[in-house]
Amino acid sequence: LRVAILISGGGSNMEALVRSMTGDHPARPVLVLSNRPGAGGLARAEAAGIATATVDHRGFETREAFEEALQARLEAARPDILCLAGFMRILTPGFVARWQGRMLNIHPSLLPLYPGLDTHARAIAAGDAEAGASVHEVTADLDGGPVLGQARVTLDPGETPETLAAKVLTQEHRLYPRVLREVAERLSRQSASPSARLSSL
Ligand code: GRF
Repeated sequence: LRVAILISGGGSNMEALVRSMTGDHPARPVLVLSNRPGAGGLARAEAAGIATATVDHRGFETREAFEEALQARLEAARPDILCLAGFMRILTPGFVARWQGRMLNIHPSLLPLYPGLDTHARAIAAGDAEAGASVHEVTADLDGGPVLGQARVTLDPGETPETLAAKVLTQEHRLYPRVLREVAERLSRQSASPSARLSSL
């Protein structure tokens, strides 16, 4: 199976995913795409020998025009699965509908708690004992799709958003590869046995 990873920044989750797709893993990374030129993850992907692309959202008048270019670049890579990893653009329902069921995202909170931004500061302000990350299917509902896996960390006294983000990020790098493998195994079984697919209709 072919996996495209969408980033906007440093790409540490992308790197963890790329490193996990080896040996008997049913998926391989075929493209790392950033909406921001110069995103640190692009250099990391090149260093790992993965094809990269940039579709700069600032170059387009509308969200739809940006997504048209994004879709065209993705289709050229023929991915079976999209992984959003630190990708900071909200995707329209039209785009999401084309990839639904094959697009994952990692969000740094224990969804359904704290969709949106500043998740760690919000968990600290709420006095939560735990925080963490969630990998979910992407739907038109921002950070609202079915949760496929979660990782939890405990908050220590004096925890700051920075220290909590670092703790959670370490867990993200274990969680995302685990969930991707489960999804890839499931999708490759489905495509391997058409009868099963028909029966699931
Ligand atoms: C992480 O907190 C992740 O949860 C969020 O983007 C942040 C940076 O991720 N989606 P990365 O280092 O660019 O993968």
